[in-house]
Order: sequence, then C-alpha cells, then structure tokens
Amino acid sequence: MTGPAVILLGPMGAGKTSVGRELAARLDLPFEDLDALIVGAAGRSIPDLFATDGEDGFRALEASVLESALTASSGVLALGGGAVMHPDSRQRLRGGPIVLLEIDEPVAAERLGRGHGRPMLGGGEDPMPRWRELAAERGPVYRDLARWRVDAGHGTAAAVARAITDMM
Ligand code: S3P
Repeated sequence: MTGPAVILLGPMGAGKTSVGRELAARLDLPFEDLDALIVGAAGRSIPDLFATDGEDGFRALEASVLESALTASSGVLALGGGAVMHPDSRQRLRGGPIVLLEIDEPVAAERLGRGHGRPMLGGGEDPMPRWRELAAERGPVYRDLARWRVDAGHGTAAAVARAITDMM
C-alpha cells in the first residue's frame, strides 16, 4: 500500500506535530509535517504566505503539497488544522488512516497563548473566539474523516502516541 501509515488531524493546539514525532519514533517510521513541507516548498513562512497570497492562496498551495505528500510519504503525516477545508484535499483524504486529536477550549487556550505565528487566529489579544469559530466549523468535517479519535488534551505527547498505537 502506498501513502502515509497514519495521518494526524485536529485543531490548532492539538499537538499534531509533537504527537506525530513521538508516534513516528514509536512505529519506527519517518515523520512528515504538512506545514513544514509547505514552508520548504515555498521558501517562505506561513504568516508570510498568508500575508502575500491570502488564505485562498495558502489553501491552494497546501492542497498541492498534500497531494504530493499523500503519494510520497509512507510514514506519519501531521496535517495543519485547516488542511481539510479544500474540497480536493477532503476528497483525497477520505478513507485514509486518519486519527483525530481532540482537545477542548481551555487546553487550546493554554497551548496557543496569543496565537503567535498562526494567521488564522487573527493576531489580536485573544485568539480564542476565532479558535472556537473554526472548531465549530471544522469539527464535523474532522469527525467525518477520522477513523479513530483520541483525547490529546491530557498527558504528554508520548502518552498520546501510545494511546494511538493501542487503538489502531
Ligand atoms: C491553520 C493551521 C496551521 C497552519 C496555518 C493554518 C488553520 O497549522 O497550517 O497557520 O487554518 O487551522 P497547525 O494546525 O499545525 O497550527
């Protein structure tokens, strides 16, 4: 079979990158992070991509980098929180080995602080109203795509990774 062995999905602050690293180490597989692949492909940071190309430009690039990653990667792939919002990406992800990392709002608030480096959170004092809106809009999409769901709000990234391997 081609494509990633595990794909991690979930809102900003869920710990997709840190859990993904732990999970890849545990499974002895390579780890790939979609945001890092995008930055590598564009040679620019995510805030810079949003500033110059807007969200639509970012999503188009994200969808094309994801398409390549779904073919090229055979390890653990962590997505960005909005990667499921492009219809093409949603279709490509459907049926994949997808784990949803679930967190609640207080955990997100603690982890995200002011939301620095995450343009979707608006750059203001309090990123949580926007986080809440995005969580409400995307939650149903996440749950629809996920084959497994795990509580990613408690314990270390290693413990969450262990819970995932126990579940799969
Ligand atoms: C985004 C989430 C980010 C990154 C970009 C947009 C989103 O990834 O892809 O800032 O729309 O939720 P993380 O979920 O890893 O923070």
